[in-house]
Amino acid sequence: MKKIIDLLADELAEAFENAGYDKSLARVTLSNRPDLCEYQCNGAMAGAKAYKKAPIMIANDVARGLSDSRYIEDVQAVNPGFINMKLRREWVASYLNDMREDADLGVETAKAPQMLIVDYGGPNVAKPLHVGHLRSAIIGESVKRIARKMGHRVLGDIHLGDWGYQMGLIITELRERKPELPYFDESYGGEYPAEPPFTIGELEEIYPTASARAKEDEAYREAALHATYLLQNGHRGYTAVWRHIMNVSVADLKKNYRNLNVEFDLWKGEADAQEFIPDMIERLKDEGYAHIDDGALVIDVQEDGDTKEIPPCMIQKSDGASLYGTTDLATLVQRERDYKPDKIIYIADKRQELHFVQVFRAAKKTGIVPEETKLQFLGFGTMNGKDGRPFKTRDGGVMRLEDLIAEIEEEMYKKIADNRTVEAEEAGKTAKLVGLSAIKYGDLTNQASKDYIFDVDRFTSFEGNTGPYILYTIVRIKSILTKYKASGGSLAGLKINSAENESEKALMLEALKYNEVIETAYEELAPHKICAYIYDAANAFNRFYHETKILSEENEETKKSYIALLLLVKEILESCIDVLGFEAPERM
Ligand code: ARG
Repeated sequence: MKKIIDLLADELAEAFENAGYDKSLARVTLSNRPDLCEYQCNGAMAGAKAYKKAPIMIANDVARGLSDSRYIEDVQAVNPGFINMKLRREWVASYLNDMREDADLGVETAKAPQMLIVDYGGPNVAKPLHVGHLRSAIIGESVKRIARKMGHRVLGDIHLGDWGYQMGLIITELRERKPELPYFDESYGGEYPAEPPFTIGELEEIYPTASARAKEDEAYREAALHATYLLQNGHRGYTAVWRHIMNVSVADLKKNYRNLNVEFDLWKGEADAQEFIPDMIERLKDEGYAHIDDGALVIDVQEDGDTKEIPPCMIQKSDGASLYGTTDLATLVQRERDYKPDKIIYIADKRQELHFVQVFRAAKKTGIVPEETKLQFLGFGTMNGKDGRPFKTRDGGVMRLEDLIAEIEEEMYKKIADNRTVEAEEAGKTAKLVGLSAIKYGDLTNQASKDYIFDVDRFTSFEGNTGPYILYTIVRIKSILTKYKASGGSLAGLKINSAENESEKALMLEALKYNEVIETAYEELAPHKICAYIYDAANAFNRFYHETKILSEENEETKKSYIALLLLVKEILESCIDVLGFEAPERM
């Protein structure tokens, strides 16, 4: 369905033209004085100079032409030249009824759906998943779902960090501990065991031990680097160990991401890109894109008009090793071959911005990716603790994601069990859902690029701008609907009538914005705009709820219309939290 703001702009364009002014002045925005009006147009001010007229005169001319508009019930020209508008109640109701009929709740999905890849998560295999990876998972999952809501075909790719030095460290440590294993016997020609030589628990201990040791022990570090080199060059035994590391860690990662309600379509990683590197490098050298600089192979990516220096994208070190950029370019070769995406969105720490600028430019310049393919980087800020420093455990260690989730769930469980009379089992499930909303909403409500403070007390509160508050509101609506049904009411065939009072109209005006919010959130990759929207909508609903007798309304028609509006608001809120990546329980 066409967005309200566009319908109004069309109507205003006509009025500007009829009054003899240029229709491009007819831009409409939400009112920034909700006490005076609902929508406004500032075009009269913008046009004053060109027409050598006082803005208020232009505003008056336009307002006169709108007196019998289909959409506008009240229009005022206000000094110095605002055009203030309120929407017709009947028309608002009919728009909302159309939304209810529409499978997409009024969102105009893409006419030509695009093929998108969202590259997010990016955990490093065998290293414990820590809070730094939380943001990528949460934001990426939401961006993926928003894009799907807009009708695009979207693949989420976890892009595992599975090919680096950490693998060499683990292999080296394992060899120290169990030198008798066949992986380390160079003369061994048989099949390697199917059983992994470690559990996830052991693996999680091996990596930090090895990493710490390599920092002190130069010979050990050399050994780990050499093991990495051998692995990357196809060493048979090390490849078998690598496969075990992958199997054990990926199973654990899957469990962790499932708990976060994060789902990847592709479990590819840096390792999958390796086979594309040799040919790619050959071509880049042959076609003159890459040249040797100080022993390393690089692609220049500086462009005219750059205000600062953009260093070349390095694709091979002097010792022949490839780098982060090489892998990302080779991954693009593979994605181009397999999916021909129209757009790829990368979600990573904003400190990686320069890396992505280099990779994107190199990919375009060398034709790895066609000119029209959009490569976009969404960088996120740091999740800090209350002390304003990167989030840590109470004793100052790196917070593991699992522990963080467990802590929040426990906090939620206490509140839910304290509060209500729900069974322990239901309280447990509810605590999971509400806890996840606390974490995800707490994160997504901030603009991605900003650092934010992870405040457990605030995020788990049922009041204020929090996930639990949004869920509480949805649960409240569900409970009214359940009671309505229990008293014999049917939820079928209901219609929304014109608003009865101010708070009902205010709620309706929030509901109207849904399609615009989703579209904007997609265009700007801005889940925080959905959070801001549902917070406003939840507030509008709660105000309406407190000021209106819904179930005890005597006029049957009015009551039915309230219920129809509640059904719509519930659908909107549920659709929004779904794209944010969490869901509401039945009760809380
Ligand atoms: N593994 C990387 C990290 O932990 C993130 C990967 C981001 N995606 C990419 N295609 N480079 O920082």
